[in-house]
Amino acid sequence: MENRKLYIFGASGHGKVVAELVASTYSKIEAMIDDAPKTASFGQVPILNTMSIVPPKSDVAMIIAVGNNLIRKKISSRFSNYNFFTSIHKTAFVSPSATVGLGTVVMVHAIINSDAKIGNHVIINTAALIEHDCSIADFVHISPKVTLSGNVSIGLGSHLGSGVIVIPGIKIGKWCTIGAGSVVINDIPDGATVVGNPGKIIEYTTILEPSVTSEKILKKKKVIKINSDYRKFNTYKSIK
Ligand SMILES: CC(C)(COP(=O)(O)OP(=O)(O)OC[C@H]1O[C@@H](n2cnc3c(N)ncnc32)[C@H](O)[C@@H]1OP(=O)(O)O)[C@@H](O)C(=O)NCCC(=O)NCCS
Repeated sequence: MENRKLYIFGASGHGKVVAELVASTYSKIEAMIDDAPKTASFGQVPILNTMSIVPPKSDVAMIIAVGNNLIRKKISSRFSNYNFFTSIHKTAFVSPSATVGLGTVVMVHAIINSDAKIGNHVIINTAALIEHDCSIADFVHISPKVTLSGNVSIGLGSHLGSGVIVIPGIKIGKWCTIGAGSVVINDIPDGATVVGNPGKIIEYTTILEPSVTSEKILKKKKVIKINSDYRKFNTYKSIK
């Protein structure tokens, strides 16, 4: 049993799901906190303005319950002096040989198989399947009913939409977005948005690390089949 008091940062839809997940593991939720609370409580749990919470103490922990990966990363820096708490629903299966990082949530009926490695502040959403030897970096969101076959790796901050299927051994880069229901059969470079079956790149997002530009990655990754619409292909969307 977990005895620490727990704050949940974020009181939106995802925050409510995380609150119920945590409650199901018998943890004591001190409060949900939010920069702009819209209501005073969620069930029995008070929702407080972030400014009103006490400074971090050893018996206090936090989960950042914000679905947007980049915002979750920024909030984790803001609260870097907190202990982060990992919550795994009792109906989820996590192999004894798998590892799950701090601040990560594993939702109802998710499955994480042998030797999979899940980073910090990751969301493994409802009924997602992470097969053996997958590697998932920090701040990734794996949406409901995603299927990752064996040996797939997912880079920092990427988001896989609901029902995505990835075939074995694929490498998906950092800050990618894979549209709901897509089937990924090629490696995907950093910052790409992919949709469809088979998955095609429709757009690139500016990559945070200034040393790596999307153009450089494209030159290196000629094997990737891209959308034939080059106007779209050259569109860049900032996530800063
Ligand atoms: C991929 C996604 C991020 C694109 O969103 P967007 O940037 O607003 O893009 P648009 O809606 O303008 O769509 C751009 C094009 O991609 C197509 N498209 C978008 N999503 C698609 C999908 N999932 N599968 C196939 N095609 C898709 C659109 O039809 C459109 O095509 P067109 O230009 O030929 O008309 C979004 O559609 C998506 O799938 N998000 C995942 C949401 C999700 O699963 N969340 C889980 C929360 S728990």
